[in-house]
Amino acid sequence: MSSIQVRNVTKRFDDKLVLDNISFSVEEGDIFGLIGPNGAGKSTLINIMTGLWESNGGEITIGGHCIKKNPLKAKEHIGLVPQEVALFESVSAYDNLEFFGSLYGLKGALLKERINEALEITGLLEKKKEKIKKFSGGMKRRLNIAAAIMHHPKILIMDEPTVGIDPQSRNHIFEFTKRINREYKTTVIYTSHYMEEVDLLCNKIFIMDLGNEIAYGSKKQVKSMISDKNKVILKLNEYTGEMLLKFKSIDGVKDCSEEDGLIKLLVEENYFKLEGLLKIIQSYNVKIKGINFEEPSLEEVFLALTGKKLRD
Ligand SMILES: Nc1ncnc2c1ncn2[C@@H]1O[C@H](COP(=O)(O)OP(=O)(O)O)[C@@H](O)[C@H]1O
Ligand SMILES: [Mg+2]
Repeated sequence: MSSIQVRNVTKRFDDKLVLDNISFSVEEGDIFGLIGPNGAGKSTLINIMTGLWESNGGEITIGGHCIKKNPLKAKEHIGLVPQEVALFESVSAYDNLEFFGSLYGLKGALLKERINEALEITGLLEKKKEKIKKFSGGMKRRLNIAAAIMHHPKILIMDEPTVGIDPQSRNHIFEFTKRINREYKTTVIYTSHYMEEVDLLCNKIFIMDLGNEIAYGSKKQVKSMISDKNKVILKLNEYTGEMLLKFKSIDGVKDCSEEDGLIKLLVEENYFKLEGLLKIIQSYNVKIKGINFEEPSLEEVFLALTGKKLRD
């Protein structure tokens, strides 16, 4: 059975359509990436999925329970980490979790156990007595995640958990997500506008922009939507700007860029011929130190399907 079914969900704010007939399903055990640029409608969708906002149409079931008709049953399955951090600044990490745990009806020894477990898995056990106001943005974010998992939800929904935080916390959240999925069998919905993260973490992906579906499926399926485009990564012992311009003019080469000494060609499989590239390289009398063919990144999928870059 699907963990979550989203069927034909629409949402309007006044006259503005911000979700246009969105449908997908999340299966048990998925790490599901919900991605799109700012304003795509990710948070709106999450607020509707978790029963905070009403949709203007469509249906959502969580663990088989309709979020509109049976909100309490549906919500039992969910842990939500909202985009905005919500914590009490002047009390300790431990006391914050004691409060959130008691909201879920936890008490006594079990509450204590769950607080320590949540602090451990988010890497905050050593900070448990410290007041939140001394925490970095990343640590606050991790404590917010800890608060969302104390009742052992079957589904954890995280709305942009890694925006604007330090690399160490980002890494913690990344590892945490993999671990909670593997060890606790938690289904995860992970919202982000960082494509690389989702690329590494998620098995299923829904890409949206301006309230519309852009691509949806397994990571492999989504990437195969632009399977006629591939990447050639080239390392030469030396190269010039003139050479790069020549590469760009080869038939079937859509783009040629250079980063950290590597030359990246985005090519159309059906038109691109390696011989053309090799000929130019030979004519300059330079040596190939490496050549690799790679599948496109999600960022490149988005660019190919929408004609625009994801990052603002
Ligand atoms: N409470 C609201 N009232 C009116 N418009 C809103 C409200 N919340 C969000 N929107 C609009 O809905 C669109 C989607 O926003 P949002 O769901 O926050 O996108 P994302 O989370 O992908 O960045 C945006 O155009 C935003 O301005
Ligand atoms: Mg958002």
